[in-house]
Amino acid sequence: MTEPRKAFSPPSGAIPPPIDWAAEDARVATEYREEARLRARRELAKALPPRYASADTDLPELAAWAAALAVKDMTNGPAKGPALLLLGGTGVGKTHAAIAALRRYVAAGGDATPVMTTAPDLYADLRPKSGKTGDVSLERYTDAKLLMVDDLGAAKTSEWVEEVNYRLINHRYNHELPTLFTSNVPPRELGAVLGERVTSRLTEMCRMVVLKGPDRRRAA
Ligand SMILES: Nc1ncnc2c1ncn2[C@@H]1O[C@H](COP(=O)(O)OP(=O)(O)O)[C@@H](O)[C@H]1O
Ligand SMILES: [Mg+2]
Repeated sequence: MTEPRKAFSPPSGAIPPPIDWAAEDARVATEYREEARLRARRELAKALPPRYASADTDLPELAAWAAALAVKDMTNGPAKGPALLLLGGTGVGKTHAAIAALRRYVAAGGDATPVMTTAPDLYADLRPKSGKTGDVSLERYTDAKLLMVDDLGAAKTSEWVEEVNYRLINHRYNHELPTLFTSNVPPRELGAVLGERVTSRLTEMCRMVVLKGPDRRRAA
């Protein structure tokens, strides 16, 4: 004998409340940013050369730069941010200090994965290779949310080098993108080495920090 069919009864309980989409969006954005933070830490740690892997700095300008930048949300694209130009002679600690600032940035919760290069590496990367245009790579640097260019002015100058410097720095300047430069060119010679167009922009966009002291490599 078949069982008598049960009468249909609607599910009991209250109708669920409507979804709060604004709260849901906020939750997803927070998760997304947290992922970006973790990625920034992980990728920076992977990219760091061992010599500077635990670099830290007590220079107040660098700590302030890192802290100010870390509060900006860059998960959805680049945000405006301050730029720094670290100046000083060979071995005074510019690369160490710049990397220390990036480490502080990610440690303070910065969510942009820094792109790091030296100026000579950048030119090598951009030089047109057979069948490829150099411009594909330039965007990697012009559009980086956070960029470090070490040893600006260290490469032999040519019209091409000046043009690359101009295009890179002008873009970073126009969009007010956070950038960390180092150079061992004495401040008074920047115009002669980098050209006036680039130096003028660097002077306006960057806070200049001059590192003084002996060549730490020789001292060691
Ligand atoms: N604040 C510092 N504390 C400890 N070691 C440092 C510090 N600054 C630099 N060094 C070390 O001194 C050497 C030269 O520093 P580096 O940053 O490479 O100089 P620069 O880039 O100015 O030529 C490196 O071995 C670096 O690890
Ligand atoms: Mg260096």
